[in-house]
Amino acid sequence: MKHFLLLTLAPLFLLIFSPPIHADLENDKQALLQFSALVPHGRKVNWNSTIPVCSSWVGITCSSDNNSVIAVRLPGVGLRGRIPNNTLGKLDRLTTLSLRSNLLSGSLPSDLLSLPSIQYVYLQRNIISGKIPASLSPRLISLDLAFNSLEGEIPLTVQNLTNLNKLLLQNNSLTGSIPKLNSRNLQYLNLSNNHLNGSIPSTISGFPNSSFLGNTGLCGPPLNQCSGVSPVPAPSPSPVNIGPTPPVAPTKDHLKKRLSKGAIIAIAVGGGVALLLLLLMAILCCLRKKDREGTGVLKGKGFGAGRTEKPKEDFGSGVQESEKNKLVFFEGCSFNFDLEDLLRASAEVLGKGSYGTTYKAILEDGTTVVVKRLKEVVVGKREFEQQMETVGRIGQHPNIIPLRAYYYSKDEKLLVYDYVSAGSLLARLHGSRDGEKPPLDWESRIKILMGAAKGIAHIHSAGGSKFTHGNIKSSNVFLSEDVNGCISDLGLATLMSFPAVPPRTAGYRAPETIETRKTTQKSDVYSFGVLLLELLTGKTPLQSPGRDDVVDLPKWVQSVVREEWTAEVFDAELMRNQNIEEELVQMLQIAMACVSKVPDMRPDMEEVVKMIEETRQSDSSSRPSPEAEGSNSKAPETNTP
Ligand SMILES: *[C@@H]1O[C@H](CO)[C@@H](O)[C@H](O)[C@H]1NC(C)=O
Ligand SMILES: *[C@@H]1O[C@H](CO)[C@@H](O)[C@H](O)[C@H]1NC(C)=O
Ligand SMILES: *[C@@H]1O[C@H](CO)[C@@H](O)[C@H](O)[C@H]1NC(C)=O
Ligand SMILES: *[C@@H]1O[C@H](CO)[C@@H](O)[C@H](O)[C@H]1NC(C)=O
Ligand SMILES: *[C@@H]1O[C@H](CO)[C@@H](O)[C@H](O)[C@H]1NC(C)=O
Ligand SMILES: *[C@@H]1O[C@H](CO)[C@@H](O)[C@H](O)[C@H]1NC(C)=O
Ligand SMILES: *[C@@H]1O[C@H](CO)[C@@H](O)[C@H](O)[C@H]1NC(C)=O
Ligand SMILES: *[C@@H]1O[C@H](CO)[C@@H](O)[C@H](O)[C@H]1NC(C)=O
Repeated sequence: MKHFLLLTLAPLFLLIFSPPIHADLENDKQALLQFSALVPHGRKVNWNSTIPVCSSWVGITCSSDNNSVIAVRLPGVGLRGRIPNNTLGKLDRLTTLSLRSNLLSGSLPSDLLSLPSIQYVYLQRNIISGKIPASLSPRLISLDLAFNSLEGEIPLTVQNLTNLNKLLLQNNSLTGSIPKLNSRNLQYLNLSNNHLNGSIPSTISGFPNSSFLGNTGLCGPPLNQCSGVSPVPAPSPSPVNIGPTPPVAPTKDHLKKRLSKGAIIAIAVGGGVALLLLLLMAILCCLRKKDREGTGVLKGKGFGAGRTEKPKEDFGSGVQESEKNKLVFFEGCSFNFDLEDLLRASAEVLGKGSYGTTYKAILEDGTTVVVKRLKEVVVGKREFEQQMETVGRIGQHPNIIPLRAYYYSKDEKLLVYDYVSAGSLLARLHGSRDGEKPPLDWESRIKILMGAAKGIAHIHSAGGSKFTHGNIKSSNVFLSEDVNGCISDLGLATLMSFPAVPPRTAGYRAPETIETRKTTQKSDVYSFGVLLLELLTGKTPLQSPGRDDVVDLPKWVQSVVREEWTAEVFDAELMRNQNIEEELVQMLQIAMACVSKVPDMRPDMEEVVKMIEETRQSDSSSRPSPEAEGSNSKAPETNTP
């Protein structure tokens, strides 16, 4: 895996330029052109002899010297028909081939799995039929042919694949007995839902029964004992004892050890988290009901009493008596309270930011809103009001938390927003102050990210080319109830003085803004890139509050990748799901483009949205459910190779 990631990322970071294209690349190019000419596909595959292969062809990764193609990744692009002989099979330095989730049919050409350098093959979720070719490259590490229509026997040559780490063949029509797999490096195995028969070789009996279920003829551990009639391993059509016999005992021990450690922790943590989640859900449920009903004073009070008492916060001390009706609501807002009601509400501090303190306020009728009390506003009343008008107008978007009302006086500036119960991305990703942190899976992260990207893109397009958000960071992205990302704090940056040394946000700040002291749409893109890195790595660009040092995430990612421990870049929580590596790498590439040092090199936000959508389309178009996609994640180990 490490190896795979490294190879994929290498072109991004290697800045050594070497002489122009070689004959090797020309050969690879011709082979690929032939492939695309023979295999009907969607529009996304832009392979065209007039544009450079290594930099512009979709799904192609070249070696660092740009001399050969080392990876072809076209997941879910509508490829149909058979993979022709003598096309991809000519890419003799190809290490990674992913054509998963297409409509490829026919049998596999014999020259594909035997490519001399091939290590990672993802052809799952097609309709490939015929036999698995017997000639397999000894370098194979991952072979995923699941959810196809393959038939015939599993070739005995798999016994010789000493590097094999992942063999996924579930949901095919394979017959015969299971070869004695070399299990030394094998971590992921799934042979379920085939027509295999005979006894399960002892080398792989340590895998869970879900690796074998759905094969009526299979027996032996971990499934039922073979019937007494044939105590000897099932006679297979060809002799089973060709090739070296792999060690038996170590595997079992190996599995058990890791299982026990992993399982115990998983069960303990899982149980705890589940319990907490249940509790949380119950509380939220009650809460929401009350908010919706919103009838009468009692409910609001009852709610307040039901939780651990927090000291009532007062956020209206600067409001002058004569101005108590000056709360300015925006059009279309259904809230029905005045400033006096707001000041009477029971309030609780949600957070203290660089712009001021944020409160959760529960009004007497049960309505819950967020009140932001701004400090150090540097603009005058008129400018403030103009800015609020703009924000009210632009903020009409599902991915922006709407500003409902504001109050301005010399001593007090208050903003009223909808309350978002699911909290901020910062809290969700890194845990809140009380340390609670249920895992956030990739699907959710992508959804949040997509929401945030759309919100920012809307801000940029609706506000004109000069309008920026100016303060994109994970504490300003909130999760809506359906776990969508929503942007908050729209339009506030311009009201405030540009802080000279802002420790809490410096990690997100584009390098040029520190000098120019001005945010631009491109600097928003930079901040978004850091946010994306944060989601990919699980690391925060901000150190814990109270400490001023800032992690420069872009720099860190680059340094880690250079030091050749690329797999470590990604959040360990994400790496448990083995089938998203490619997507992670694609996302990392988008992030790195966003955090380019030179503003003009960064894509604009619309483009970023498109890029994310494209990786999504290519990866999820035929992915029926996350459960099926992560089907191998139930394998005994969770470590990545
Ligand atoms: C290649 O690209 C050029 C320019 O983008 C276009 O005119 C041409 O039709 C393309 N050729 C093929 C085979 O798609
Ligand atoms: C390889 O191609 C990439 C993308 O076009 C380019 O950035 C890089 O400089 C090239 N490397 C070499 C060694 O030519
Ligand atoms: C594929 O090509 C090889 C040699 O290039 C040939 O032996 C084989 O018969 C071909 N297979 C098919 C299905 O055309
Ligand atoms: C495995 O490799 C050995 C030596 O490389 C070879 O003799 C043997 O025939 C191979 N076995 C299979 C099943 O291909
Ligand atoms: C795999 O096969 C099982 C058993 O036939 C079936 O229930 C399941 O839906 C299949 N999964 C997919 C994704 O086709
Ligand atoms: C397994 O199935 C094959 C046919 O698919 C058959 O020839 C063989 O006898 C079966 N073996 C056992 C042990 O049932
Ligand atoms: C598979 O194993 C689990 C526990 O390891 C057991 O509960 C389950 O009944 C088994 N399923 C079958 C079909 O044997
Ligand atoms: C194997 O695949 C089947 C079908 O997708 C799935 O139900 C089962 O959980 C998988 N087993 C393992 C060990 O991943």
